[in-house]
Parts: sequence; C-alpha cells; structure tokens
Amino acid sequence: MKPIKIACVVGTRPEAIKMAPVILALSRDAAFEAVVLASGQHADMLTQALSDFGLSADINLNVMKDTQTLEHITSAVMEGVGSFLGEREQDMLLVHGDTATTLGAALAAFYRHTPIGHVEAGLRSHNLASPFPEEANRVLTDKITSLFFAPTEQAAQNLRTETRENKNIFVTGNTVIDALFWILAQTSGISRPDFLSALPPSAPTLLFTAHRRESWGEPLKNICKAISRVLDAHPELYVLTPLHKNPIVRDTIKAELGGNDRVIFSEPLSYRDFVAAMNRSLFLLSDSGGVQEEASALKKPVLILREISERPEAISHGTGVLVGTDTSRIEKESLALLENKKYFDSFAKKTSPFGDGQASERICAHIKAYFADKNL
Ligand code: UD1
Ligand code: UDP
Repeated sequence: MKPIKIACVVGTRPEAIKMAPVILALSRDAAFEAVVLASGQHADMLTQALSDFGLSADINLNVMKDTQTLEHITSAVMEGVGSFLGEREQDMLLVHGDTATTLGAALAAFYRHTPIGHVEAGLRSHNLASPFPEEANRVLTDKITSLFFAPTEQAAQNLRTETRENKNIFVTGNTVIDALFWILAQTSGISRPDFLSALPPSAPTLLFTAHRRESWGEPLKNICKAISRVLDAHPELYVLTPLHKNPIVRDTIKAELGGNDRVIFSEPLSYRDFVAAMNRSLFLLSDSGGVQEEASALKKPVLILREISERPEAISHGTGVLVGTDTSRIEKESLALLENKKYFDSFAKKTSPFGDGQASERICAHIKAYFADKNL
C-alpha cells in the first residue's frame, strides 16, 4: 500500500512544540510519509523549538518580517503552502491551533481540495476580540476542517454544536502533554541548566511570560507593575522572565522591570530549559496557552494573565486562576499563593484536564482509519 502523505505545518514556537510529538509518531509509522512544512512565521524561535525534538523543517517558507502584520503572514503563508501543494500533492495537511500560519495554510489546502486535519481543534472563548486574532483563526479553520482532533471533551462539544456532526470529531488529549513527557524523559537526571546560575540556589522564584496582542500597551504595563509590587513585598523573591522575541513585548517588559535586580531576563529558552524553569519556580504567571496546560501537568499553580479563557478546563479543574491584567488582582493572588500555604498546597492535589501523553498516537490512529475508510 502507498504511504499516506501528510504535510505537517508549523509556524510559531507553540505549533512546533505541540506538533513535534505528532511528527515523531507519524515518522515512526511506515503507513505515513510525513513532511515538515514550516511557514517561518517565527524564525529563530521555531527552529529552536523543532531542534529540541531533534527535528528540522523539510521546507521553510521563511515568511517572517520584523514587527510583521497579520495580513502579511496570512497571505504569504497561503501563497507558499498553495505552491507547495501544487508541486507536491498531499493526502492531508495537518495544521495546529490558531495562528496566522494555521489559517493561511488551511485556506490554501481548502482551495487545493486537500483534506485538513486540525490538531487542537475546538477551543473557543466565544469572543472574537480575545484572544485576538486567534479566536477567529480557530473558528474559520474549523469551518473547512475534515478531521478534528479536540484536546478535551469541552472542545469536542464546541465543535459538535457548530458543525452538527460527530463522525470526524475525536477527543485525543492535548499533544503538549506528549511533548512535556517526552522532554522530561530526555532530561531526567540532568543537573541545573546554566541559565539558572544568575539565581541564588535556594531563592524562591516565580516564572513570568507574556506576549499576547490584546495585552500590548497598558495591560502589559499593569501586569509588570503587579510583579514589581510583589517583589517589593517579598525581598527574598526572584522572578525569571524569558523574553519573547517580539520587540513590542520585550521593550515594554524591559522598560517596566529592567531596573529591578531580582528580575532575571533571558532570551527565549530551549524547551528543555523552559521546563526546568517551570519546575524550579513556585508558581507561574503567564498569558500563554501552552504554559497553562503544562503547568497543570507539572502541578504548578498558574496565574492566567488574560481576561477571558478558551481553556475553561484549567479554571474548572482549579489548576489555574484567571487573574486578567488588573494590577491589584494579580498582586492579591500572587500574595495569596506566597503567604497562604494551605491555598498553595491545594494546587498539588488537582489533576490535569489536558491529557495523558498519548494524544499523538491517537491522532495517527484516527488518520489511518479515515484513509482506510476511503480505501486509499
Ligand atoms: C504569534 C501568534 C500567537 C502565538 C504566538 C506564540 C498569530 C497572529 N500570533 O504571535 O497566536 O501565541 O506567536 O509565540 O499568529 N520575532 C522574531 N523572531 C522570532 C519570532 C518573532 O524576531 O523567532 C519577532 C518579529 O519581529 C515578528 C514579531 O516577533 O514580526 C511578532 O511575531 P508574530 O508571529 O507576528 O506574533 P507573535 O506575537 O509572536
Ligand atoms: N516556551 C519555551 N521557551 C520559552 C518560553 C516558552 O520553550 O522561553 C514554551 C512553553 O513551554 C510552551 C510554549 O513555548 O510550550 C508557549 O509558547 P508561547 O507562549 O510563545 O505561545 P502560546 O502558548 O501563548 O501560543
């Protein structure tokens, strides 16, 4: 039998991390011929994340520009993926999540009559303004998707309501848990990474990341002000903050927190170092989707720096607290975690709603069954 040809599209750091275990699983199975199609929406951050899994792009469209616009990314990706599909016909295009790459690639596949598999399908905030533009990217992508890989039952339910079909909607778990377990297995026994050397060995530490478009400007400044206040209240405390490459984000965070010598900045960390940083921290403050999911599996409390969440499971399972971008709220929740041991300890008892580390294997099995049905 001919192998099933699958192009796996990745554009940004989280797509690379969450698609990596799927690419590895497809590559282990002779039923598939997988190709890694990078848009290059992120340049260095994408290459870094792929290489953490021993992967690299087979094709890279290299679309990234400095402080790029959404319309540039979407149109350049659509054009590039369309040309690729014109030259190398594929049985399926696998996209992940909700980025401009996801939407641009999915549109190209739709125009070329190539079936789309959507990994991490069905997340919904039900608000097109937040997260922006990701909510629109997901809704539009799911409109033209053939196979839906929902990370949770709630995500599948969102899809059933919208598409009025059950057949090709599968609950798989989130592949980020596969990625996390994979990296933990690779790094077990490895001693303290170098980047932590700026930190006194036993200092209590928090980990902070932020980058969302809807937080640019005042909201991000308000988050930083909260972190300053928490550091003032706790002179023993340190904050690690690996900066996103986006100059708009890094300039704001540096301007707000740069004067504090208990804030340790770094360039984007390799995935293995970032996981070590999460493990080293008491709790996390982040607006990242992936970090919320990983935190729940690592049993680290996470303060979610967003007003609305498309991952309600973190909140309903109590593994994360939605604190928004209000300075006082972030300060109050941070102090509660630092000063109320019973409250802090309660997070360790919560279970992760995001999967068991087997999502990628399930995705491969569903793709195989789909093509077996079609007698390909
Ligand atoms: C993008 C995604 C967002 C995702 C995030 C993950 C969209 C609309 N946004 O947002 O959903 O959560 O990635 O991080 O798809 N840059 C570099 N080097 C890099 C990466 C970025 O210099 O390796 C700089 C460039 O100046 C680039 C800018 O960051 O123009 C912004 O990148 P972009 O992908 O447009 O937006 P993100 O905020 O990263
Ligand atoms: N991450 C990383 N290095 C860092 C910061 C984050 O490897 O310096 C990982 C993190 O573990 C998670 C993902 O990158 O898996 C999150 O990416 P990001 O915050 O850029 O995007 P989002 O999850 O918000 O889409």
